[in-house]
Amino acid sequence: MTTKKRVLSGIQPSGEFHLGNYLGAVRGWAARQDEKINYFCIVDLHSLTMPQDPTTLRAQTRSLAAILLACGIDPARSTLFVQSHVTAHVEACWLLNCLTPLGWLQRMTQFKDKSSRQETILTGLLDYPVLQAGDIMLYDADEVPVGEDQRQHVELTRNIGQRFNHIYETEFFVLPEVKVPEAGARVMGLDNPENKMSKSMAHIRGHAVRLLDEPKEILRSFKRAKTDSDNEIVFSSAPEKAGVNNLLEIYEAVTDKDRETVLADFANARGYGDLKVGVAEAVIAAVTPIRERYDYLMRDTAELDRLLAKGADDARTQAQPKVDAMKELMGLVLPARK
Ligand code: TYM
Repeated sequence: MTTKKRVLSGIQPSGEFHLGNYLGAVRGWAARQDEKINYFCIVDLHSLTMPQDPTTLRAQTRSLAAILLACGIDPARSTLFVQSHVTAHVEACWLLNCLTPLGWLQRMTQFKDKSSRQETILTGLLDYPVLQAGDIMLYDADEVPVGEDQRQHVELTRNIGQRFNHIYETEFFVLPEVKVPEAGARVMGLDNPENKMSKSMAHIRGHAVRLLDEPKEILRSFKRAKTDSDNEIVFSSAPEKAGVNNLLEIYEAVTDKDRETVLADFANARGYGDLKVGVAEAVIAAVTPIRERYDYLMRDTAELDRLLAKGADDARTQAQPKVDAMKELMGLVLPARK
């Protein structure tokens, strides 16, 4: 009998859930639930590393739970929970802070990028990947399924884990592998295909396809998508073809077709107009059932809260003993059992 691999991944509740989050991460989480032991975490503490409105963040946390369930995350097969409900995450972050060199964090691309846009840089933003390392390693995750932008954070997690194992002469932490999907790992903004589609820009018209958008809004966003002035429908890494390439990759990911079939589907297209409509229709077909399930789930938020509380209970049974064992290795005294 082969033992199942352990998987952990996370997603921030702030911002609006978009097609990149779905294709880069959540779709794969849902598809492989039977093959793995799964932990999926709504990382509300990570959201606090950027300024948030408390009322909005609270609403977004529940809404994201409903979206994840609507995307097919099944509480019977996966542990779905909110990060702040499991205090071991904060404890692990502190403990790992105490062995993570500052320079490792200052080098992170996401930190450099986000901090360059802030007047005041919050300490939490710098520390963000250490919290993430704790999220992953508390669950002994073998695999971390994420979009391409998170690769560096998973590599850092391995470095932190290795450092801990070395200092305390143990094999305590499992060093996780990053798992990036073949198609959809980096969905680009429709308005600006040089940059990735991003939650923080999802409110800008024409940038993102939000999973809860109505079909006519999705069609409008694709029709406005930036392309180029030649008329060639090809997969290409040339900068000027970034828009067309992005549309084809979205279609490839959402339909699960191979590249040859994707190109054959558009062989008779009379220009980019047909391409845009074809991609929009494929996306609408994929996301409409999700939006309908979401609407249904949001009718009973008490049930959502109950599911999240159960998920947190399950997560705690794994995470608390792990963090307690970390403390012991590091020389802390655990409180005596009463
Ligand atoms: P977050 O909330 O920004 O994104 C959630 C997931 O969506 C992926 N993603 C994309 N994939 C393809 N194209 C895009 N344009 C795109 N934008 C986002 C992300 O790669 C991610 O997989 N730091 C993480 C959250 C986190 C986490 C963790 C992840 C916290 N702890 C532990 C894995 C394991 C983040 O900000 O994701």
